[in-house]
Amino acid sequence: MKKILITGGAGFIGSHVVRLFVNKYPNYQIYNLDKLTYAGNLFNLKDIEHKDNYHFIKADIVDGEAMQHLFEEHNFDSVIHLAAESHVDRSISNPMEFVMTNVIGTVNLLNAARQQWKNDFEGKRFYHISTDEVYGSLGETGFFYEDTAYDPHSPYSASKASSDHFVRAYHDTFNVPVVISNCSNNYGPNQFPEKLIPLFINNIRHNKPLPVYGKGENVRDWLYVVDHARAIDVIFHRGGDGETYNIGGHNEWTNIALIKVMCSIMDEKLGRTEGTSEQLITYVKDRAGHDLRYAIDSGKLQKELDWVPSLQFEEGIRLTIDWYLSNQQWLDEVTSGNYLKYYEHQYESR
Ligand code: NAD
Ligand code: TYD
Repeated sequence: MKKILITGGAGFIGSHVVRLFVNKYPNYQIYNLDKLTYAGNLFNLKDIEHKDNYHFIKADIVDGEAMQHLFEEHNFDSVIHLAAESHVDRSISNPMEFVMTNVIGTVNLLNAARQQWKNDFEGKRFYHISTDEVYGSLGETGFFYEDTAYDPHSPYSASKASSDHFVRAYHDTFNVPVVISNCSNNYGPNQFPEKLIPLFINNIRHNKPLPVYGKGENVRDWLYVVDHARAIDVIFHRGGDGETYNIGGHNEWTNIALIKVMCSIMDEKLGRTEGTSEQLITYVKDRAGHDLRYAIDSGKLQKELDWVPSLQFEEGIRLTIDWYLSNQQWLDEVTSGNYLKYYEHQYESR
């Protein structure tokens, strides 16, 4: 029996992790702690919210006292920490929000775990979910490895880098049993339509312009979200204490090539003449400090823990587009803001 605190479980990746753990481990008690910011959506978990081993806690990780009380009350033995502000463009408009949630929030959780666990770390684990963006930007060749020096450029990646350093510092200084993974760009169902793939699917659907930053030559390494959740499961259970694992799909695309593939699949699905959606492509001013290329080497995870991505990109992107097209209500609720009322209706009336 385990009592696992999963933070940020109402978000994109967190909801896939919560679903996997709740379904796969009926003898674990899963506590999903989420502040329900604009990015948190409990609709994402409708299929599992009735299960006996699932619990939801609405709380803010920036509130250190609240975190300590929750640890005292529930005595969690593990943490899988995904709660974060996650969008680079928002971090450029409002860096402080990222410092508060990503840095202070993470340190609050480390303190609460450390205080509750005292020095009895048997069966305990603090798993911090991070990003490949902490490593900075690559030129045309090379990969990020676990020992690549940190070189963040955006306020988002700087805040994630800072939180990674704190997690390692709590391991080295206080012996808190930690593990960290750094993953490449995720795509798939339930991603908030401010990130490239769901934003562009939604815009194509509504015949709205597709705003491509700069020349569209930046390269990202895309991984299907369910494969990230599978990697998190493997690392949580079998990753070494104090270790770091890179997660990625060896699946690099320039933005413009990816967008053209999406346009073509959308033309086919929407019964439009080939080439129609591409006409929506609009080149706009580049993002400030825009990293050129991310590419992950996940050899350590593959060799040591036998994880490999289950899906090829061609299949994953089709599944993703199909999901958004058959869940238009989800997209409409999210873009209209209606989803924010769900919590009130579902939880506060009980
Ligand atoms: P997301 O923005 O979809 O979800 C974040 C969740 O955290 C939301 O449910 C939100 O309500 C919650 N949250 C935010 N601030 C909070 C606070 N102060 N207290 C409690 N909850 C709070 O993000 P995501 O894309 O699912 O990313 C999850 C994690 O994975 C993040 O740590 C991110 O850095 C990391 N990551 C994301 C990607 C990616 O491509 N999306 C890739 C690698 C790593
Ligand atoms: P995004 O999904 O925001 O992820 P990240 O910045 O964390 O990699 O963006 C992916 C790529 O797409 C990135 O190079 C920026 C680019 N992009 C656009 O060209 N236009 C957009 O409207 C968005 C949101 C992103």
